[in-house]
Amino acid sequence: MLAQALDTQFALDVRAGLTQPEQKTLPCRYLYDDIGSALFETITLLPEYGLTRADARIIEQHAEDLLDCLPSHLIVAELGSGSGAKTRTILQAVGKRQRALYYPIDVSAAALARCAKELSPMGIVMPLEMSYLDGLRGVAALRAPGQHLLALFLGSTIGNFQPEAAIEFVDSIRQVLAPGDALLLGTDLVKPTAQLLDAYDDPTGVTAAFNLNLLGRINRQLQGDFDLRQFAHVIRYHEEAQRIEMHLRSRVYQIVSIRQADLIVDFAAGETICTEACHKFYREQVETMAGAAGFRLERQWVDEEWGFAENLLVCR
Ligand code: AVJ
Repeated sequence: MLAQALDTQFALDVRAGLTQPEQKTLPCRYLYDDIGSALFETITLLPEYGLTRADARIIEQHAEDLLDCLPSHLIVAELGSGSGAKTRTILQAVGKRQRALYYPIDVSAAALARCAKELSPMGIVMPLEMSYLDGLRGVAALRAPGQHLLALFLGSTIGNFQPEAAIEFVDSIRQVLAPGDALLLGTDLVKPTAQLLDAYDDPTGVTAAFNLNLLGRINRQLQGDFDLRQFAHVIRYHEEAQRIEMHLRSRVYQIVSIRQADLIVDFAAGETICTEACHKFYREQVETMAGAAGFRLERQWVDEEWGFAENLLVCR
């Protein structure tokens, strides 16, 4: 019943994205089915993709500093059920002061189950299978007087929003929080173009597989007939916009049918589908974004090795 409803939303989104008059698009959240999630986990192990390791390094080095900036009696909510290491470090630090209470929020039941299994030794884990903001509202409603909320939004997932939408999203988070609550926000920084291109077009081809799997997922779930071999993984970097984009480029003129989306669509040779956009930040831009969304940037820790910032935003 639920799977059916989700497939319908997926079908509607696929149809809307592939019937765009100009650039065809597919929403990047659909990259993460079970296969896509496993491929993303593999991406985080690649030498060319330092983002996740940088995120984890900062948290490992500064978990205690982080907690020193925050009130006691914390409950931790994470947008996206983090995969182990980073969140574990934070829960460990929280656990030194009190029994850690942790709410991972995710729309993927499988991801939540993995997360609960991995992190339950670190505290009480209460998974919420909801959208980020609904889940966060739920956590805020459940808290006892005197408890403060630390929301985690790690891994630079904020980069998937266009800059104005990112401010809006951070503002929506702030509206759920109360004074003294905080948001720990991970942001990948602008870095040399060659380094970015390597990170998103790795020579092993894992990112290409991650990207192509989106077409595979459409085939599996929506009875599509994409020939994955007729599409190429392409990365573009728009330097002025500070945005890296993932595309799938049609190698030939072709016609594809997607039964469950009630769609027949053609692709010109060379035409692309944009499957993800990842915004990169300058350090000062995070402070501007925080301010525009009603937060104060309390601390910013930077990993110089990769170019990643961990930002502690406190509710004014
Ligand atoms: C999970 C959105 C942070 O943008 O680096 C990795 C996703 N896409 N390789 C990123 C991704 C291709 C990732 N985020």
